[in-house]
Amino acid sequence: MANYIPDEKVSQVRNRADIVDIISEVVRLKKTGKNYLGLCPFHTEKTPSFTVSPDKQIFHCFGCGEGGDVFSFLMKYGNGAFPDAVRQVARRYGIDLPARALTPEQKKRLSQREEMAKVNQRAMAFYSHSLKNKTIGVKALSYLRDRGITDETIEAFDIGFAPDGWRHLGDHLKKAGVAAGIVQSAGLIVQNKRQNGYYDRFRNRIIFPIFDLGDRVVGFGGRVIGADEPKYLNSPETAIYNKRRILYGLNRTRPACRRSGVIHIVEGYFDLITLYQHGIENTAATLGTALTEDHLRLIKAYAERAVLVFDADQAGMKAALRGSGLFLKAGIDARVLVLPDGQDPDSFVRESGAPAFEAAVKKAPGIVEFIIDAAIHRYGKSVEGKVRVISELEPMFATIDDPVARSLYIRLLSERIEVDERAIREKMTRASVPVDRRDRREPFAEPGLKGDRGVSRAFKLEKLIVAMLLQYPEMIPDVEKSGIIDRFSDLELQALGRSVIENRHGSGVDISDLMEKSDKPELKKTIAALAIGRDDGWSRKGCLQLIEQYQKISDPDRRQIIAKIKAAEAAGDHETVARLLQLQQARGQRQKT
Ligand code: UTP
Ligand code: MN
Repeated sequence: MANYIPDEKVSQVRNRADIVDIISEVVRLKKTGKNYLGLCPFHTEKTPSFTVSPDKQIFHCFGCGEGGDVFSFLMKYGNGAFPDAVRQVARRYGIDLPARALTPEQKKRLSQREEMAKVNQRAMAFYSHSLKNKTIGVKALSYLRDRGITDETIEAFDIGFAPDGWRHLGDHLKKAGVAAGIVQSAGLIVQNKRQNGYYDRFRNRIIFPIFDLGDRVVGFGGRVIGADEPKYLNSPETAIYNKRRILYGLNRTRPACRRSGVIHIVEGYFDLITLYQHGIENTAATLGTALTEDHLRLIKAYAERAVLVFDADQAGMKAALRGSGLFLKAGIDARVLVLPDGQDPDSFVRESGAPAFEAAVKKAPGIVEFIIDAAIHRYGKSVEGKVRVISELEPMFATIDDPVARSLYIRLLSERIEVDERAIREKMTRASVPVDRRDRREPFAEPGLKGDRGVSRAFKLEKLIVAMLLQYPEMIPDVEKSGIIDRFSDLELQALGRSVIENRHGSGVDISDLMEKSDKPELKKTIAALAIGRDDGWSRKGCLQLIEQYQKISDPDRRQIIAKIKAAEAAGDHETVARLLQLQQARGQRQKT
């Protein structure tokens, strides 16, 4: 097997990992009682039902039923295979694993990406050095000073300068022994037309390194000093730089976003950097690209509210309209702040200060309200205008899953354009898309278990019994003595129940062990669903009752009697029915005493 990692290594990694740490990287979790709660990254929801248990090292979503251990989470979240998940955790905790047995092709790609990040790191050092050079960097530095950037900020964001000339970086890296091919594939040098040499992509520009969340340098942006065109030049997309997935600055600002629960989304390098320097650290920049679902996933991991800050132009409006569906779908409270004419976040804070910016943020309307008003502003309140407003807003309204929110927005629209709410509602319903059904599941359903069996009483009790074994292992001896597991009608639950009993350690159950032994993701889901528990509502008395209850309904004699009663009833044999009923009653009394 190409990716094989020895079991004892997997155990070592599992034991070292903390599931709360790892999930916190991508989901905002709040401690509630002994568990952590957050919005599920695997389905759309407004109220958190995604639960992580630090004691048991498992997660379970009460909304969509997803669940498992730390590896299941990473596999599901990153669409990766098991060994990748193990490696990811091992890397994080500094555990050495035997080298991956890769195909030559995989090896090449992996090492190419690592090499690329290394080359970028070297380039960053070179640019940074050039900016600090008393002669080469002087113009760039004074430009930064003019824009109010401090030395501290230059350090914090590793701002640099690409000297004027065709081969400064190229020669520097060549001297250091770096192969031209890799420098080219990182987008730092470009092959000339005659294909006999290379020139530097970034020349005479201020350089902003772009980092991913692992603090690797994945690309660069370069600004002219002054008014040349194009104003910014960026790294091309490479194996490690995908602009649809990167939010500039987030590697640095994510603690502040997490702390406040709010993230400001701006467009430019300077917008982010200047806000940061003015103490508004919870910000990330899209670098002029449209927001993508990947961006939203990042945002959701660090904040529950996003404030989109736009320059006062038509582009901002368009961006808001395009982004609104994404935000509504992701369940993120998005606000829109449009700055006064001719201002961007950078110029605004420098001129008016951070308190004025924060005051403006406080007043920013929600994205739907903003879009409604923008549409009205554009089309006016004539009859034709109103019709156009409604049709323009239709697709956005269709993305609102939450019926309450939808209804409130429709009312808002109705008030603004003075059109009857019912008429709007009718027009909108016809255009609407079906709601994601997963969100409608009853909160206590355990979708990790096949639903169709869920109706039988025995199955329900069997689930409860296994949950009891997992959550209240003190009952294991009683369950064993009663022999009820052997009577289970559901074989999957029976196997699970047996393995819980076999795997007990002293008076407890090691859930991690159990997870490790169950290689099927579905089984892990079931274990997580049953083990996580909503509260500590187990009492010995209640447990004994549960066992007794199950004994009763699963008693083989009783089942036989019931079958006979049914048959007798069907045959119209009243005498037999009466006799059997009596017999059954007598047995019930015997059991009670
Ligand atoms: P803006 O045109 O709003 O520029 O582009 P800016 O950020 O205010 O730039 P300064 O303040 O004049 O330095 C917003 C963002 O769009 C990207 C850059 O990331 C920029 O920060 N952009 C813009 C480009 O990639 N290329 C360009 O030519 C222009
Ligand atoms: Mn600007």
